[in-house]
Amino acid sequence: MGEQKCIGILTSGGDCAGLNAVIRAVVYRATGTYNWKVMGIRQATNGLMSRPPEAIPLNIEKVDSWLTIGGTMLGTTNKGNPFAFQMADGTVRDRSDDIIQGYHQLGLDALIGIGGDGSLAILRKIALAGNLNLVAIPKTIDNDVGITERSIGFDTAVNIATEALDRLHFTAASHSRVIIVEVMGRDAGHIAISAGISGGADIILIPEIPYTISKICAQIQERQDRGKNYCLIIVAEAVRTEEGELVMHTNRLGQSRLGGIGQYLADTISDCSGAETRVTVLGHIQRGGTPSSLERLIASAFGIAAVDLIAEEKYDCMVSWQKREVVSVPLEDAIAKYRPVDFDGTLVKTARGLGICLGD
Ligand code: F6P
Repeated sequence: MGEQKCIGILTSGGDCAGLNAVIRAVVYRATGTYNWKVMGIRQATNGLMSRPPEAIPLNIEKVDSWLTIGGTMLGTTNKGNPFAFQMADGTVRDRSDDIIQGYHQLGLDALIGIGGDGSLAILRKIALAGNLNLVAIPKTIDNDVGITERSIGFDTAVNIATEALDRLHFTAASHSRVIIVEVMGRDAGHIAISAGISGGADIILIPEIPYTISKICAQIQERQDRGKNYCLIIVAEAVRTEEGELVMHTNRLGQSRLGGIGQYLADTISDCSGAETRVTVLGHIQRGGTPSSLERLIASAFGIAAVDLIAEEKYDCMVSWQKREVVSVPLEDAIAKYRPVDFDGTLVKTARGLGICLGD
């Protein structure tokens, strides 16, 4: 059985469905199979910066009901780079060493970091600087982490967007409207293309494939000629205007985020085709709620595999879903290889084969 280890686990970056299912699996494997201790670190790396470090002991009794709970019971943050951390007094400090010391103060032998490409790159940099034993688990509804077919959160987000399309078919048909559904995904179109196919969208717009408004309007007209009085369009938030501008929403503090391409398309399509248009922005609904069954399955498999990697003392690696198996890949390679939608891949071919317009 080996020495009794104490491992830490944290969730970092935007939350999503399935994170608690990962934590539950980690606790089952680490405490049940190996008789190790597990510490759940609060608010991502912020918990390791706090003094004393903010962490809670986790056992099977505590996490058993977490399988179906959305969000993350440990809390998270997608703000603040620990290497340039904004302090309360307005100064900026490198807090990476505080995180390394926090790891030692908790007596950790290894750390499981659950995050997207940005968080995992930061965690790796800290782990290398402090010689910490890190195993990574990919999570992001955007599904854009390199060398894994699946990241935690993606399947649930796709199911939510698919259900939205299912519902919108009826109202769009009832009013003879063009309805545009704007989905998340940051720079990638994975949610849009997957949900668009599954939810029977007529037009799918993703950042990886440039479009023209005239192609979109021609598709709407062609549907009308076939007696179809409505049209559903799904668009990824990072799709640009026809002139190539990113559409951003800026708040009163001057902080900008992606958002608004749906409304741009609604106005432009309405001008060009005369169609009545409406927009649904799914936003954070895609991150919330109960994880899908596939999500729970992948989350559980990732959690078990991550603990087994620690048992083998294999670090600086990431669990990865490939051809229905969990394998481990070098973390360095995973974060170096951003994964957009494959222009010539199966999903693009499938969409085209179904007569779905991709705007090009
Ligand atoms: O990366 C996940 C994600 O949900 C993106 O799809 C989206 O652009 C972003 O996070 C939203 O971030 P926030 O929760 O800070 O609004």
